[in-house]
Amino acid sequence: MEKPALDNTKTRQYPKSYRAWLQYRRITDDNTYRKYRAWLSSVGLFTDSVITNSAVEELAYAVESMLDVTPFISHSPQKASIILGTHQDIPLENYGLSKSSFEELNNEGYLMRMVSGANNSQQLLLAGKSDKGVLYAVFTFLRLLQMNTSMDTLDRKDAPAHLFRMINQWDNIDGTVERGYSGHSIFYIDNDFKEDIDRMKDYARLLSSAGINAISINNVNVWDTETNLITAEYLPKVKKVSDIFNAYGISLFLSINYASPMTLGKLDTADPLDSKVKMWWKEKAAELYHYIPSFGGFVVKADSEGRPGPFTYDRNHADGANVLAEALEPYGGIVIWRCFVYNHKQDWRDRKTDRAKAAYDHFKPMDGRFLDNVILQIKNGPMDFQVREPVSPLIGALEKTNYMLELQIAQEYTGQQIDVCYLIPQWKEYLDFDTHAGGKNTKVKDITNGSVYKNPLNGIAAVSNIGDNLNWTGHTLAQANLYGYGKLIWDPEISTEDITREWIVLTFGDHPKVVENIEYILLHSWEAYERYTSPLGIGWMINPGHHYGPNIDGYEYSKWGTYHFADREGMGVDRTVETGTGYTSQYFSPNAEKYNSLETCPDELLLFFHHVPYTHTLHSGKTVIQHIYDTHFQGVEMVENFIEKWEELEGHIDEWTFENVKERFQRQLDNAIEWRDQVNTYFYRKSGIEDEKSRTIY
Ligand code: GCU
Repeated sequence: MEKPALDNTKTRQYPKSYRAWLQYRRITDDNTYRKYRAWLSSVGLFTDSVITNSAVEELAYAVESMLDVTPFISHSPQKASIILGTHQDIPLENYGLSKSSFEELNNEGYLMRMVSGANNSQQLLLAGKSDKGVLYAVFTFLRLLQMNTSMDTLDRKDAPAHLFRMINQWDNIDGTVERGYSGHSIFYIDNDFKEDIDRMKDYARLLSSAGINAISINNVNVWDTETNLITAEYLPKVKKVSDIFNAYGISLFLSINYASPMTLGKLDTADPLDSKVKMWWKEKAAELYHYIPSFGGFVVKADSEGRPGPFTYDRNHADGANVLAEALEPYGGIVIWRCFVYNHKQDWRDRKTDRAKAAYDHFKPMDGRFLDNVILQIKNGPMDFQVREPVSPLIGALEKTNYMLELQIAQEYTGQQIDVCYLIPQWKEYLDFDTHAGGKNTKVKDITNGSVYKNPLNGIAAVSNIGDNLNWTGHTLAQANLYGYGKLIWDPEISTEDITREWIVLTFGDHPKVVENIEYILLHSWEAYERYTSPLGIGWMINPGHHYGPNIDGYEYSKWGTYHFADREGMGVDRTVETGTGYTSQYFSPNAEKYNSLETCPDELLLFFHHVPYTHTLHSGKTVIQHIYDTHFQGVEMVENFIEKWEELEGHIDEWTFENVKERFQRQLDNAIEWRDQVNTYFYRKSGIEDEKSRTIY
């Protein structure tokens, strides 16, 4: 086999963080090194596909990197120490297994087991339900090896909880990335695809190793040039990118412009019920699949923030999505229709219209009207990826519709990869939230994995946080969000702590101080960010446009529907049924009552649901105003503490990364101080109430 040429770190002088969690650091323990070096010298392959080739290539590359030996790859695997293949191709009985061992696994699952081979030698079986399963098994094996896990009695089965585990790139074809905080696009430059295929391949490896199996490669806002991605001008290049990702088990999607029949087809309408429009999409689908038979489908932002959609023609979302779904259906393609639909031209004087209600109001009445190959993609909260939001009430409200949850790994509202904000604890909270949709214990994760309503399709998508920065994510610690996202949606039962430790050890090694300090920083970072930014679930208070840094009234008199309504008496949005917008009634009981009542509403969401005086006493025993002062001072102190913990790691972390994170922390501290002082000063001036502890407020 040809020697794999994956080591970009050598050829391009990339920093260590380029390899992210796929460091494949040389095994340092002598005994382990000798044992595995001998054992891993031969790999036997029962299945030969593009995907298993990627698996073998990865295995060879990693083993060479960790153990300085190039494994011999053979197609007569009897004597090999590692045996790879799908359960159809491996003679299971030779290894004490049968087809039934795979019955409970879904198509991407795998089984790994240590068995006794000839002369009592140990053979490790990495058997996939499909070739994707083989690839996942190899990544898992390499992870265990890197983490020094004993393999002697290895016996495990694993399969992903969700069908689609997706990444949404918000990349524009000019090379910019909407809400991108780590440089430019790795896909595009100057209205064309980039030549650097290695970078895309390395991204595919990273994603696949974290269990991701789908990617959309262009921004949901599809501007003029991007509209052409579905034309012959670009499709051969899209196909090349698709091949790169397919080789790692990842299917490729494109975001489309709903007005394409007009812009590209020169029709006079994009009305989904118009027969010419239907025909146009059918022909377009045929063309697309001619170029890319494995094409995943479309991601669609329609009638949202000014993008075109079916409303122009008095049609609804189901009409809008179904015309696309019909066109893609013969090829197995799907339509991912986004529910981020609200009035973005609201009058701030109008206190009845509530942006939080919009997704539910638009889509709940549509339940059951979408074709089977349509998935509705719903943001985790009703607003927009704030540091704290309740779970969207639409999740659970649809019984006859496919769901996809949308998260944002890019830290648009959570520090923009300048501030550290580890989001796994937040996502875990969302996934574990009990919607009560099908009675008690109907968690979000049971809805997103399709088990509650038995919808044919399901999944989770998230906005990517990578760009062409040398470490992918700008802030190296932000890599943990990408890795953790993949791990969590593969198996929502894994604990945050396990994911975190695993990421640290894979990325930085297992020095106890390194593990302890980074774990501490990550696990407290969301809390810190929440403390020094906007309080008690109210959200926003950011600079308009770019969304970084404090601006308490930045969106207060705007059209975006994002208000805090602070006056000299109090603040918060009244979303109760009796006196407010009635949003609380969109939840199932008892969540509806819990949020609606001032007595039972959780503190952290109080101002999302209620307008209260500054002197209102929280469950914590503090008044709202004192809570604001205290948390803002604490938030800054937490950042100072993170910095101390990071400084302690000097010498234990490679210099490039050490300096990268150090520099980010300095900017985070400046940001936190600015937030603290602006928020405290603003509310002190509004309320006139002194801080009990007489700290400096301006
Ligand atoms: C946010 C974000 C936009 C993005 C939009 C979306 O509002 O700021 O840049 O286009 O979400 O999800 O469509």
